[in-house]
Amino acid sequence: MFITFEGIDASGKSTQATLLAKELEEREFDVLLTKEPGGTELGKTVRNLVLHGEKISPRTEALLFLADKAEHVDSLILPALKEGKIVISDRYLDSSIAYQAAGRHFVDFDYESLGNWAIDNVQPDVTFFIDIDPSVSFARMLGKHDKLENEGVGFQRIARYAYLEIAKKHRNRFIIIDANGKSVDELHAEISEITLKKLGDRK
Ligand code: TYD
Repeated sequence: MFITFEGIDASGKSTQATLLAKELEEREFDVLLTKEPGGTELGKTVRNLVLHGEKISPRTEALLFLADKAEHVDSLILPALKEGKIVISDRYLDSSIAYQAAGRHFVDFDYESLGNWAIDNVQPDVTFFIDIDPSVSFARMLGKHDKLENEGVGFQRIARYAYLEIAKKHRNRFIIIDANGKSVDELHAEISEITLKKLGDRK
């Protein structure tokens, strides 16, 4: 099973991805927890270039994120899925649809098709979208900005709206988790219940 976590910045998705991986490992599932950008060596370089390097053009940014995904799928995600592992990725192609295609306004171009080619059409079985109010995300990020986080609350609003559009298009895999006003433990309970049920259904 391939599970991805998505959300705007500081939504708490990394915490939830880690907690789910731990819970599944405790239940003796074989799990690979990984992230984008940064799951591979190339990904770490992309992360530095895109998030902490000098200013780059939006198209360069978009292509670097897709290059990271291609490498991530080929060298880590697909081999792990073939070994029967549960793969949990903290961000995946939906991040690029939300942040690059929508955030950078690539409206005249089918970025999703290029993205699907980059990921060799390896689609997640389940995507948890951790939904928080962009103003909460912005408040949580004060003082710790990388380049995309520096884009401001308007950028996070565009990304959130794009995620909700993706949700409509991919109802079969997209699960919206309303995180407003909920504790880490409450969210974890909700997410693990859904995951365990799906794993049970697959047996
Ligand atoms: P993330 O790793 O979630 O943030 P953190 O620094 O808190 O660990 O994501 C880093 C940034 O990269 C985030 O602002 C979203 C952005 N991003 C994209 O714009 N496109 C992508 O395809 C991915 C994977 C991330």
